[in-house]
Amino acid sequence: MSGRTEVFMNKRTQVHMFDDFQEMSLFSARLILEQALHFIQKKDIFTLVLSGGSTPVRLFELLAHDDMFKPMPWKKTHVFWGDERLVPRASEHSNFRLAWNKLLSKVEIPENNVHPMHVELDNPEENAERSEQELKDFFRIRNSVQEDEQTESRFPCLDFIILGVGQDGHTASLFPGDPALTETSRLITPVPAPDMSPSVPRLTMTLPVLNNAETVLFLVSGRNKNPVLRQILDSATDSSLPAGLVRPGRKTIWLVHPPFDAGHAQKMKKNPNFEIVTHKN
Ligand code: 6PG
Repeated sequence: MSGRTEVFMNKRTQVHMFDDFQEMSLFSARLILEQALHFIQKKDIFTLVLSGGSTPVRLFELLAHDDMFKPMPWKKTHVFWGDERLVPRASEHSNFRLAWNKLLSKVEIPENNVHPMHVELDNPEENAERSEQELKDFFRIRNSVQEDEQTESRFPCLDFIILGVGQDGHTASLFPGDPALTETSRLITPVPAPDMSPSVPRLTMTLPVLNNAETVLFLVSGRNKNPVLRQILDSATDSSLPAGLVRPGRKTIWLVHPPFDAGHAQKMKKNPNFEIVTHKN
């Protein structure tokens, strides 16, 4: 894969709209492969954060089975999760289980490169603390870091974070109105069971971690998401919705299926913050 595509060279937020879900999934898999090769050439490691939900399943299957992604350097890729449900790893609701069954069990990724959040303790707080300590240890972040120290020394800079968006504007397990949205020092925090299925307590990476990433890729499918997407993207700066609060200083890419209606897409094209790309069938 030669050079870095325009997607990563462009400083503005990219919004790619797809007529076809398969094409969106293929495009996201290509972005991941490209970034993995780029970072491994640059620093010999690639850190990838997976999301839960149904949208990334096709992406997982492509990375697992499509010959185009055989060059994916799994031996130097480390996989984390942006959030996890506090259920046993064998549960159908586990984000780890989803990624393991659809992707990680099918590729040559070393066991030590897979970093699931902790769910085995009865206490959500302890699961969060143990998961956070592992993230800190991996990135060599000291526990004694002061509030006023540089972001880089307090929060990990993950290379590529995949996020979904719920109809209520949540992302990872950051739900509207939840105190976790105002967290400024923790890396991973527990959140109570949301009013959506599965209504179980969860763990989530916090906004300082998501916003310190090199790249965040929002993977969003479903016409039912358009109203909340429009609210997030139209505001561009002051969205109160969780997904609208994620804008890493480096790169945010939105992959949206199906496309916004022509009128709205035209309106967005006038917004200098965005680069709108439409992928027609
Ligand atoms: C989770 C996910 C969550 C998901 C959105 C979108 O643990 O449920 O992390 O944030 O990405 O709810 O889910 P869909 O992809 O199923 O629409």
